[in-house]
Amino acid sequence: MFETTKPEDYLLRLAASDLGRGYKALALAELEIRPGQVVLDLGCGPGADLPAFADATGDRGTVLGVDHDPQAVEQARERTGALAQVQVRRGDIHHLDLADRSVDRAHTDRVLQHVADPSAVLAETRRVLCPGSRAVFAEPDWDTLIIDYPDLGVARAYTRFVTEQAVRNAGIGRQLARLATRAGFTVDKVIPITATFHDREAADKVLGLQRVTARAVAAHYLTEHDAEQWLHHLAAEPFFASATLFIVAVSVYEPAGTHTTHRWRGAG
Ligand SMILES: C[S@@+](CC[C@H](N)C(=O)[O-])C[C@H]1O[C@@H](n2cnc3c(N)ncnc32)[C@H](O)[C@@H]1O
Repeated sequence: MFETTKPEDYLLRLAASDLGRGYKALALAELEIRPGQVVLDLGCGPGADLPAFADATGDRGTVLGVDHDPQAVEQARERTGALAQVQVRRGDIHHLDLADRSVDRAHTDRVLQHVADPSAVLAETRRVLCPGSRAVFAEPDWDTLIIDYPDLGVARAYTRFVTEQAVRNAGIGRQLARLATRAGFTVDKVIPITATFHDREAADKVLGLQRVTARAVAAHYLTEHDAEQWLHHLAAEPFFASATLFIVAVSVYEPAGTHTTHRWRGAG
């Protein structure tokens, strides 16, 4: 009844869903990628966004995907093998193996929520971006997760488990504009995307309801009895849940008269 597939498969299926395609198209539009630019996808996962970035920057451009998960890197390489301008590297986005001001566009999609230090990643992203460049960060705020259930206390306990234990930086959505400003970016736009789920199976692909409920019981956020009733209700009754992801579009100030031509100097 509930979803149990490999994360990479899930990420690509989410990207191909109406929800994924909708907000990813918006993030792509906000990036304003021009032909020939260097585009950096931080935490690229299995490479869901790399082909669209390659298409936008064209044959003369460079798309660089970075992820610390070897399996994701392998899958992203397979997926983009035919695209000469795409390189996928294994690495930690806290420490990019890239020269200062060597990148025109940077992007995260549900990545800063997981990293050890989002401010450090933003500072590192700022370092490699050139004057006049742009970045787009698409990150959820898990405190916005609501799931319809008659007992609000149980529903809140589930969300509290998600925000306190399941996701490292669960409040990154609301914090991003402040952290990006602190890192030296100009925040141009914050676009909230509220996903609504009327179908339990679709929701489970994103939320992992059964798996997370079991963890919430183990961590004493829910009793076994509450969890059993909760899962039974979610499976048997009409379903509704929602959560909000924020697309934060930022730019790097370009002093008047600055010429921004730079050469791609990424380390091999
Ligand atoms: C939810 S997935 C999103 C993948 C992709 N952006 C997408 O939209 O499908 C988060 C990705 O961030 C990567 N990640 C998390 N922390 C990282 C870090 N410190 N350095 C590099 N990659 C990281 C994970 O390995 C994972 O592939």
